[in-house]
Amino acid sequence: MTEASAGLSEDFEADLTRRGYSRRSFGRIFGLLAAGPGVASVAGAAFAQTTATNPHAKADAGAAPTAVSAMVHIGANECWTGPLEPGAKAAAAAVATGNRYTSTQRTDFVNAVVAVEKVPASHVLPWAGSSDPMARIVVTYCSPTRGLVIANPTFELAPSVARYIGAKVSEVPLTADYRHDVKAMLAADPNAGVYYICTPNNPTATITPLADVEWLLANKPAGSIVLLDEAYTHFAGVPVGSYLAAQDKDIIVLRTFSKLFGMAGMRMGLTIARPELMMKTMRYDGQMASFALPNPSVVCGAVSLVQADLIAKRRAEMVRVRDRSLALLDKRKIGYIPPAANFFMVDWKKPARDVKAAFAGEGIEIGRSWPIWPNLSRITVGSASEMDAFNAAVVKLNL
Ligand SMILES: Cc1ncc(COP(=O)(O)O)c(C=O)c1O
Repeated sequence: MTEASAGLSEDFEADLTRRGYSRRSFGRIFGLLAAGPGVASVAGAAFAQTTATNPHAKADAGAAPTAVSAMVHIGANECWTGPLEPGAKAAAAAVATGNRYTSTQRTDFVNAVVAVEKVPASHVLPWAGSSDPMARIVVTYCSPTRGLVIANPTFELAPSVARYIGAKVSEVPLTADYRHDVKAMLAADPNAGVYYICTPNNPTATITPLADVEWLLANKPAGSIVLLDEAYTHFAGVPVGSYLAAQDKDIIVLRTFSKLFGMAGMRMGLTIARPELMMKTMRYDGQMASFALPNPSVVCGAVSLVQADLIAKRRAEMVRVRDRSLALLDKRKIGYIPPAANFFMVDWKKPARDVKAAFAGEGIEIGRSWPIWPNLSRITVGSASEMDAFNAAVVKLNL
């Protein structure tokens, strides 16, 4: 046992060796699972998107730091506002009883998921967000001998983890209508460990139909899984893939409360899969990552998830505000990818880097571009007033 792998069970070591990892890589994997996916230099993808400097910061020199700068933040795909009110109230009540470890919060959470998703309780696990389980899933099902297949462009966390652990990553362009090209994905690596489908896809905000996911499940190699990331699905209001997990297919459905539910800083997520698929991912940490969660976050998630009317209302508010900006882009003949979620890719027809800098000069932090499309920026739909500022800047900057 190496120093870095001290503390890993023999079972864990044997599993890694069997799957083609060298003893040298044990330390990397242990670091990843112990310290979280940030270790794989993936923080840039998920979290470090709000780093633009605040143009008003000089005036504030010496003042106590605030959590979010005075910039208009429409770049990190967060929700423009906090948790749904019933969830926030329940979380506040849970803070008052925070002296106790836990009682029924976890069960209540699982029951809420069961009620909404119509899946067995055995198939549901809560997590602190979705990045952590995503990293565990990649480590568990990919290896030096079984790769990861992704669309290009897509959310980079899974490929960052795969590259970090030495697994092959195959990138497949989206179809002309921005779906995941599942047939090309299978052809790209017919023996991959994980086929990652993000729908709505980040950064395109486009939907891959569940019929395509079903095709992939029916045709993929034995021992592999489909990782279905539905982080933005509540903003899309489309049919979801949890029924495939309830049917015990080789699929893990990944959800987060960081988007429509406005809980990015509270760190809550969940997986839906037949139990043995997830148990394999939990042998590295004594199950602490899923079982030791902060009660206020668990309670807030449970109460929020069942608020069908408030969810629909928040989605409608986002669509209303988003459509005003899209109408402006139409009027100015600026191209964009038609979105089904709370963000959209705009084609400036010039380097997105320069456009981002120009917006920053106006106090607005827009999103980034992806290497495949250097002229496109991702814009997150903010509040009505934040999007008013965006719209005004589009005109002022003569874009
Ligand atoms: C598609 C997608 N999946 C997962 C995540 C991870 O989010 P979190 O760890 O906050 O649940 C993000 C974050 O932006 C995302 O865009």
